[in-house]
Amino acid sequence: MSLLKVEQVSKVYSNNFAALQGVSFQIRKGEVVGIVGESGSGKSTLTKLILGHESYKKGCISFNDQPIPPKKRSDVRSYRKNIQMVFQDSSNALNPKLPIGISLLEPLKNFKDFTPSYMPPGRYTNREKAERLLEMVGLDNKMVDRYPDELSGGQKQRVCIARAISIEPALLVCDEATASLDVSVQVHIINLLKTLQKTLQMSILFISHDIRAVTHLCDTILVMKKGCLVDNFQLNDLYAPERHTYTKALLQAAML
Ligand SMILES: Nc1ncnc2c1ncn2[C@@H]1O[C@H](COP(=O)(O)OP(=O)(O)OP(=O)(O)O)[C@@H](O)[C@H]1O
Ligand SMILES: [Mg+2]
Repeated sequence: MSLLKVEQVSKVYSNNFAALQGVSFQIRKGEVVGIVGESGSGKSTLTKLILGHESYKKGCISFNDQPIPPKKRSDVRSYRKNIQMVFQDSSNALNPKLPIGISLLEPLKNFKDFTPSYMPPGRYTNREKAERLLEMVGLDNKMVDRYPDELSGGQKQRVCIARAISIEPALLVCDEATASLDVSVQVHIINLLKTLQKTLQMSILFISHDIRAVTHLCDTILVMKKGCLVDNFQLNDLYAPERHTYTKALLQAAML
């Protein structure tokens, strides 16, 4: 069943620049989809449309068969819960004045009626929930009282991932979430996303300019160029002759 459906979506900014042109694809439940493309190809614009941060006039985006942005107020809450985001800049994403254990629990505070499946049945304090989330992303639970500037970039990104998955979204959108990290740290974060995807059975939309990172994580790969989706294939078909010339060029440039 498709979770997210993007059909013939175009986006023209107020300066008449066409950032997206007739983009169509789907994400099924539990599927990990990567979008790769050069800077300015429209990847973040697409993210903004999916999150409802930018409007669009042409085409249709739907999530769980409901239009995005939702028309009914009652659908807004479910949409907000079920699509969570991890951005490139983890430093800006965390409030420097708050211990990470507090920042981490913001989504759970907003969705008080949600019962996390990652806590065994029982009653828990906020601190215990924060400690469990830190463990899930491979951090020491004693870090709960630390402030963002006492963490490395990779650790901060793990905290952002923990916060995003705390309410078990159906779809996790990662826009260049590994781009600012050292290559070795990138691999750890990608492996973490793989593990969390399996544990929580969520779908992931992983956006990157780095085709190598995308091939490490994703089952389905979409390639964007100048606002258009030029290729859409399964990882197994990475080297198939019918790949778009631009995909082949990206593979060659990455020495894959
Ligand atoms: N608010 C805006 N108004 C006008 N043009 C915009 C706006 N936001 C983005 N653009 C333009 O749309 C194009 C796509 O931008 P977008 O941020 O989606 O690219 P991207 O693929 O995410 O690039 P990067 O890899 O550098 O993050 C760019 O040419 C950008 O300058
Ligand atoms: Mg971008």
